[in-house]
Amino acid sequence: DKAGHKHFMAKEIAEQPAVVGEAIAHYLPAGDDTVRLPGEGIDFSGVSRLVLVACGTAYYACLTAKYWFEQIARLPVEVDVASEFRYREPPVPAGTVALFVSQSGETADTLAALRYCRGKAEKILSVVNVPESSIARESDLALPIHAGVEVGVASTKAFTCQLTVLLILALKAAADRGQINAETLADHIAAIRGLPQLMNVALDDGETVRRAAQWLADTRDVLFLGRGMMYPLALEGALKLKEISYIHAEAYASGELKHGPIALIDPTMPVVVLAPMDPLFDKTVSNMQEVMARKGKVLLISDEAGLETARDGVWVTVKMPDVAPLLSPILYALPAQLLAYHTAVAKGTDVDQPRNLAKSVTVE
Ligand code: M6R
Repeated sequence: DKAGHKHFMAKEIAEQPAVVGEAIAHYLPAGDDTVRLPGEGIDFSGVSRLVLVACGTAYYACLTAKYWFEQIARLPVEVDVASEFRYREPPVPAGTVALFVSQSGETADTLAALRYCRGKAEKILSVVNVPESSIARESDLALPIHAGVEVGVASTKAFTCQLTVLLILALKAAADRGQINAETLADHIAAIRGLPQLMNVALDDGETVRRAAQWLADTRDVLFLGRGMMYPLALEGALKLKEISYIHAEAYASGELKHGPIALIDPTMPVVVLAPMDPLFDKTVSNMQEVMARKGKVLLISDEAGLETARDGVWVTVKMPDVAPLLSPILYALPAQLLAYHTAVAKGTDVDQPRNLAKSVTVE
């Protein structure tokens, strides 16, 4: 049931304020400023290293989580795609916790990576959407994301729910490790509780994105740029666009632009810049100006202050509500998803069942 939407993907994008709210309600129950985990939970105080493993969109959720765990909890994190991790036979030193992220909980490579860690890692965690899945069953602690059934092959609501649970887990790690005081923790929790409302506002501006998508639909290549936590989101935005519109898209950390990809810039290649007004904003904007100086067409996604400062010469702007910097990857996922969706609709591709792809990749 598409609930009045043209595609499951549109329905699942629109559901995000509700399902992210659901995830928040489970992990941050009202009336209390502590994180509640299912079962026996986990205490991060004795953990010395975290390994995050996944595929596809879930891998980009892990890449984002690395910023959170390292910055807030001061916990060293290694992230890998499951198909590389499992065959590299990496050492898993004492004190390592391994965490696997999977919407389906059945991805063959992710499951094999989990089995490789069995008996080696201190503890095996998973962040899953399907609680009865193999990955959930074979973990010491499975953390459900509460996204509900996701039908669209292009993952949307599972991604933002994965991010929400991972951010809350990073806060728990920070508290366990004495890296955050009660007041800061309460501030972060309050910000997270406000996220569904901001997501509603972000979804409101779908029309600007839809118009920009009409033009993207005629291009062959698109570049996504982001810095810090916006870098993994740039990768996710590019993946979403290729999956459903079949347009070649790639993402770079903004700082890498002048190390190669700038050679691609010409008036025919749009560059999507994800840049909230955060401490890295000026750096990203200077990369964006390098693109515009070479006649690249920029689509800038930022907040009011960011657009005030940097809109000159930009081709299209998409305005996002102000958001606490830690939460920006979750909020900015929405315009990235909408951009891919509307581009695919404009091209007339099969949005929910893109060619060559399966919802769950159970063979390697
Ligand atoms: O079920 P999983 O989260 O383990 O799936 C991982 C990837 O196959 C999945 O995220 C894939 O990349 C999606 N098609 C992305 O939209």
